[in-house]
Amino acid sequence: MNVALVFSIQLGLFILVQCARNQFDPFSKFLKVQHLKQTYDSPDLMTEDFVVHKSSQDGLKAADKISRLPGQPRGSEFNQYSGYVTVDPNHGRALFYYFAEATNNSPTKPLVLWLNGGPGCSSIGGGAMMELGPFRVNKDGETLSINKYSWIKVANMLFLESPAGVGFSYSNTSSDSKTTGDTQTAKDSYTFLINWLERFPEYKTRDFYIAGESYAGHYIPQLAQLILQSNQNNNHTVINLKGITIGNAYIDDETQSTGSHDFWWYRSMVSDEIHDGIVKNCDFSWKADVSKTCQAYIDEENKMVRDIFAYDIYAPLCINGTSAETAGFDPCSQEYIESYLNIPQVQNSLHANLTGLPGPWQDCNDTVYYNWTDQPFTLLPTIKQLMGSGIRFWIYSSVPVTTTKHALKKLNATIKTPWYPWYLNAEVGGYVVVYENLTFVTVRGAGHFIPSYQPDRALTLFSSFLDGKPPVSM
Ligand SMILES: *[C@@H]1O[C@H](CO)[C@@H](O)[C@H](O)[C@H]1NC(C)=O
Ligand SMILES: *[C@@H]1O[C@H](CO)[C@@H](O)[C@H](O)[C@H]1NC(C)=O
Ligand SMILES: *[C@@H]1O[C@H](CO)[C@@H](O)[C@H](O)[C@H]1NC(C)=O
Ligand SMILES: *[C@@H]1O[C@H](CO)[C@@H](O)[C@H](O)[C@H]1NC(C)=O
Ligand SMILES: *[C@@H]1O[C@H](CO)[C@@H](O)[C@H](O)[C@H]1NC(C)=O
Ligand SMILES: *[C@@H]1O[C@H](CO)[C@@H](O)[C@H](O)[C@H]1NC(C)=O
Ligand SMILES: *[C@@H]1O[C@H](CO)[C@@H](O)[C@H](O)[C@H]1NC(C)=O
Ligand SMILES: *[C@@H]1O[C@H](CO)[C@@H](O)[C@H](O)[C@H]1NC(C)=O
Repeated sequence: MNVALVFSIQLGLFILVQCARNQFDPFSKFLKVQHLKQTYDSPDLMTEDFVVHKSSQDGLKAADKISRLPGQPRGSEFNQYSGYVTVDPNHGRALFYYFAEATNNSPTKPLVLWLNGGPGCSSIGGGAMMELGPFRVNKDGETLSINKYSWIKVANMLFLESPAGVGFSYSNTSSDSKTTGDTQTAKDSYTFLINWLERFPEYKTRDFYIAGESYAGHYIPQLAQLILQSNQNNNHTVINLKGITIGNAYIDDETQSTGSHDFWWYRSMVSDEIHDGIVKNCDFSWKADVSKTCQAYIDEENKMVRDIFAYDIYAPLCINGTSAETAGFDPCSQEYIESYLNIPQVQNSLHANLTGLPGPWQDCNDTVYYNWTDQPFTLLPTIKQLMGSGIRFWIYSSVPVTTTKHALKKLNATIKTPWYPWYLNAEVGGYVVVYENLTFVTVRGAGHFIPSYQPDRALTLFSSFLDGKPPVSM
């Protein structure tokens, strides 16, 4: 395992460090990541290569209905469901989901699967409760308020905790953690979908999209590739996949490294001397070794950036459970969410933790992350393949936007509509460039978790994606 690789994994992973009290310290733990198997690109996954366990889902939809969540405000009328879907009955492996139907005309709206990254972080704690779901958890850690920019205004949103070990998802076979990596995550997520669609058969023919961020830049192209392959070659349920979108996506190790160093330098967090030292001495390409000189510059850089919340560099920190006032987003949100999801009545209402899982519930599971078994160096070949598959493909970015821009350059895509500013309420919401079969959108003024920091711009971007029309110029 070379240092560059570990460093770049850590960059996709800041949230874990944030869990540990806002100390950005990407080097304190990385040497433990030793058993990762890395291929250059993503192997073509085929459903012929594994058993897709399908079981009867009769009566389970009704059992998963949530009557009301503790602390839920009045006037929030939409259907919510949550529960477990068994993906391997022999091992006793089950994935947990939360599903919120669209507020208006749900049957006319698409189905969207949302995935957070990590690897090891929860789509319910992150996506649903901190970013784009129907509710935000209040400061008391016990009550909820309505998120008026929730994506359930435009879609039926399905949040999956994946793989097993993340959030409330689990396996009864402890050795499963020895095979937890990109491949297992794709297979289990596919098996989840096949069974979930049996549980909710009215969604089988609905337009289906996958959205997510960060390390889901691995999960989503891999899952999409598996679905498209299986739709053609198997007699499993055809999944009506229409498009995918990935935000601040981790898609290529080399540009994840170069783009992150550039990002900190462009934002004046690092001196020219340190940045020049990194540019001259560090080789982040496939299988390259990191020299001592390179490592020394990276250590210097780390001293400069470690006390800033790297996911949202201008934001205040959450220190001892309190934070400075900010516009809109409370940096201690994650603590409120962890309190809320650990309340026994909340877990009962969610039909979660039915088997006495070791707790507490945490947004990100370090064990999953540090024992990750396999990941490709780059997803760009898979992305190229998906760009030619006829599905809609959007990439959006804010922090660190330079990683995405460097990765897109490597794709050599043909520009169809050149870079232009898009607007919301007479202000620039960000920028757009449309390539052949790929649209890239930036969001202005947002940290890594875009819907947390710029909820209205994020909802506009997501609606545009579902409509298949880039956000509009003035
Ligand atoms: C895991 O084991 C518990 C306790 O035996 C059991 O109740 C549960 O159904 C098992 N989970 C799965 C997915 O088989
Ligand atoms: C984290 O994942 C590991 C490995 O899957 C699992 O054994 C453990 O129970 C999980 N921890 C928590 C707190 O959920
Ligand atoms: C289709 O399904 C049948 C019965 O469920 C099975 O025997 C057959 O192998 C399947 N064919 C393919 C190509 O998966
Ligand atoms: C946070 O709490 C610790 C322990 O109580 C204390 O030593 C420290 O000064 C506090 N930090 C701030 C910034 O208040
Ligand atoms: C599951 O419930 C038990 C109590 O039955 C609790 O101690 C544990 O923390 C919970 N696990 C999670 C992951 O929340
Ligand atoms: C998994 O990660 C934990 C750290 O969270 C570590 O203690 C443990 O040894 C790892 N297990 C394996 C099999 O590497
Ligand atoms: C764009 O997609 C079409 C199919 O929808 C395909 O024929 C074409 O080769 C693709 N172009 C690129 C650059 O991927
Ligand atoms: C992009 O173009 C360069 C130079 O022509 C080439 O080396 C590289 O393989 C291309 N990348 C992709 C993903 O096609």
